[in-house]
Amino acid sequence: MSKAKKISDSQITMTELVLPHHTNQLGNLLGGQLMHWIDICAALSAAKHNQRVCVTASVDRIDFHHPIKLGEAVTLVASINRVFKTSMEVGVKVFAQNFKENKKVHTNTAYLTFVGVDADGKPVEAIEGIPETEDEKRRYDEALQRRENRLKNRIH
Ligand SMILES: CC(C)(COP(=O)(O)OP(=O)(O)OC[C@H]1O[C@@H](n2cnc3c(N)ncnc32)[C@H](O)[C@@H]1OP(=O)(O)O)[C@@H](O)C(=O)NCCC(=O)NCCS
Repeated sequence: MSKAKKISDSQITMTELVLPHHTNQLGNLLGGQLMHWIDICAALSAAKHNQRVCVTASVDRIDFHHPIKLGEAVTLVASINRVFKTSMEVGVKVFAQNFKENKKVHTNTAYLTFVGVDADGKPVEAIEGIPETEDEKRRYDEALQRRENRLKNRIH
């Protein structure tokens, strides 16, 4: 790898307001809309770290436990967890905030794999990512097991 960068420098925070066209008939945020925001936030983190276009190779399972309501603010925080060779695992944490009720709930965690590519779409070796804090080191260690699972279960 050509150079190394701190994992903390890959962080991206994105906040969206849930508007009527983002919701279903019950006034809850659509799952597909949230997945779109997760993909964008993660792609920005991967591109920020790797300083090139990064494409989504895979998205791990995402569970929806808490409905997010019309009018709430959705904050997504993405960061690289670990760089492999050409691929990177990005973790995204999603929070829903209701400012009127002064409530903030962690609604989802998502793991995505991005691959940095050249102008022809061919994978390129990624910039190494250095974990520093205890949390970053834990996520770095856990990312290896997740990679093994997703490659084992990959559908060609
Ligand atoms: C992702 C892509 C660049 C991989 O290219 P490829 O020619 O298959 O390359 P390789 O098999 O050498 O894999 C490259 C890396 O991607 C990883 N990878 C490939 N498929 C993967 C998957 N389904 N899940 C996780 N990682 C995957 C490999 O493990 C490898 O990682 P490493 O270099 O860190 O070890 C290519 O499949 C592609 O362009 N896909 C379409 C991307 C896209 O359009 N995304 C938006 C979807 S809507």
